[in-house]
Amino acid sequence: MRIRKAVFPVAGLGTRFLPASKVVPKEMLPLIDRPLIQYAVEEAVEAGCDTLVFITNRYKHAIADYFDKAYELEAKLEAAGKHELLEMVRDILPRHVQTVFVTQHEALGLGHAVLCARAIVGDEPFAVLLPDDMIWNRGRGALQQMADIAERDAASVIAVEDVPREHTHRYGIVSAERVDDHLARVRGVIEKPRPEVAPSTLAIVGRYILSPKIFELLQTTRAGSGGEIQLTDAIAALLRDDPVLAYRFIGRRFDCGNRLGMVQATVHLALEDPELHNAVVAMMRERLALETN
Ligand code: UTP
Repeated sequence: MRIRKAVFPVAGLGTRFLPASKVVPKEMLPLIDRPLIQYAVEEAVEAGCDTLVFITNRYKHAIADYFDKAYELEAKLEAAGKHELLEMVRDILPRHVQTVFVTQHEALGLGHAVLCARAIVGDEPFAVLLPDDMIWNRGRGALQQMADIAERDAASVIAVEDVPREHTHRYGIVSAERVDDHLARVRGVIEKPRPEVAPSTLAIVGRYILSPKIFELLQTTRAGSGGEIQLTDAIAALLRDDPVLAYRFIGRRFDCGNRLGMVQATVHLALEDPELHNAVVAMMRERLALETN
């Protein structure tokens, strides 16, 4: 079955971007001229999702405002004949796509945030996208690649990437049996293992296609690593009865949940932008020349 609903857990505190995140949700920080959340939303829409469920908290009104219609702004742009800008503002979301906002009253963890979407998602497979992970590529988006596999194999699919062993404590890590270069059958998952005990270096990144059975399992999942209800623990339970595939997506991931990742993504997108490319390269050359002198 094709996925139609995408869940965006965005109720975290975003402490790594303080002080900016005191008033600007980190999902609204721009990568050049578009907020981080826009990239994940476009990926979900491209994959066929028409219902976007945002799990937010009381400080994140800016996200709802961003996807809302801006009547005054649109009227002004229209009157000024700024049609290109008008289109840009109107195209933030295609017309057939609806948004739903659910409040997570307490930040009890990613697993709990996903559980908050239960009433909206109901009994169908769905996607979860963490906007912190910005996945760039020239071809089909990572979620669309995953949706094809989920449909073909009638399985849950989680996106994975090889990480350096010294970084395993930052991720959920899977043990899996290889199917081909991109696909493996998940046998186990563990949240943030120390490098010496990690079963592999295959790390879960922020894209999931999940069976609705995950909700029942989340309901009974106790707080785990970091005192939070972990999605990884519920996936470990799901594995006992259901097929779960690990998919190495085609694309480059930037972890925009931290400062370095945000800088890397910004520079990457600037270099890919025909209007910015030459000026950015010139600036880098000049700066690097200073570094080596
Ligand atoms: P992170 O672990 O990156 O936490 O959450 P964070 O609060 O966003 O950021 P830092 O670490 O304080 O800087 C991973 C994802 O899970 C969501 C976050 O919004 C982010 O998309 N999340 C986390 C929730 O929606 N609710 C929670 O209770 C916890």
